[in-house]
Amino acid sequence: MRAGAAGVASALTAAGWSRVYGANEKLRLASVGVAGKGWSDLNGVAASPHVAVVALCDIDEGAEHLGRAAEKFPGAARLTGWRRLLDRAGEFDALTVSTPDHMHPAVGLAAVQLGKHVFCQKPLTHTTFEARQMRRVAEKYRVVAQVGKQIRSHEAYRTAVKLVRDGAVGKVKEVHSWQAGKMRWMLVDGRPEGADLAPIPLNST
Ligand SMILES: NC(=O)c1ccc[n+]([C@@H]2O[C@H](COP(=O)([O-])OP(=O)(O)OC[C@H]3O[C@@H](n4cnc5c(N)ncnc54)[C@H](O)[C@@H]3O)[C@@H](O)[C@H]2O)c1
Repeated sequence: MRAGAAGVASALTAAGWSRVYGANEKLRLASVGVAGKGWSDLNGVAASPHVAVVALCDIDEGAEHLGRAAEKFPGAARLTGWRRLLDRAGEFDALTVSTPDHMHPAVGLAAVQLGKHVFCQKPLTHTTFEARQMRRVAEKYRVVAQVGKQIRSHEAYRTAVKLVRDGAVGKVKEVHSWQAGKMRWMLVDGRPEGADLAPIPLNST
């Protein structure tokens, strides 16, 4: 999870499109929906030394939701309504949106229209039209709107992409995809029949 979190942080901070942040400036982060995935999104982005958590928003003020986040980030404003948060748009630069699915396009699109960078959990939108609107508006306001999927941001996937792009594994002719390790919904392990060993150990120096 830490690795994925690192991916999230770099995604939001690397591409400072609309303005260039000074060396001593921090990206001011607001988080909407701070329970399950929201908790890891919030902590992942907050792990960057370039980020300051300034606002937390969740409809549930309980100990597993807003309460826990507020305890960890006592200096951040606490809100229970995302519209109230957007009323204070001048106080933050970016936000994570990790509410249940149905709220993603409402919160995400409104935030992008205010010129905020958004890291929004999947699904980013409900319809292709909304997704296209998101891209159009993000381009217009020159902000980053990224969908929260490990496959887009996790260190393991980004490393694999880099190895392929850098030519480290040569020309890829065939790809085997499988689940290694035991997950609760899938109890398989080991490599596919006939698979070669990885040419470069990922942890080699
Ligand atoms: N990328 C992934 O691998 C992954 C994994 C799990 C979940 N998700 C996505 O993350 C999202 C959240 O899932 P979860 O499992 O963390 O759910 P969750 O129920 O644990 O957390 C959702 C949080 O949002 C809050 N919330 C609900 N409506 C809100 C609103 N209108 N404004 C502010 N806060 C609101 C809830 O109180 C809760 O704290 C879902 O869209 C899900 O698809 C992604």
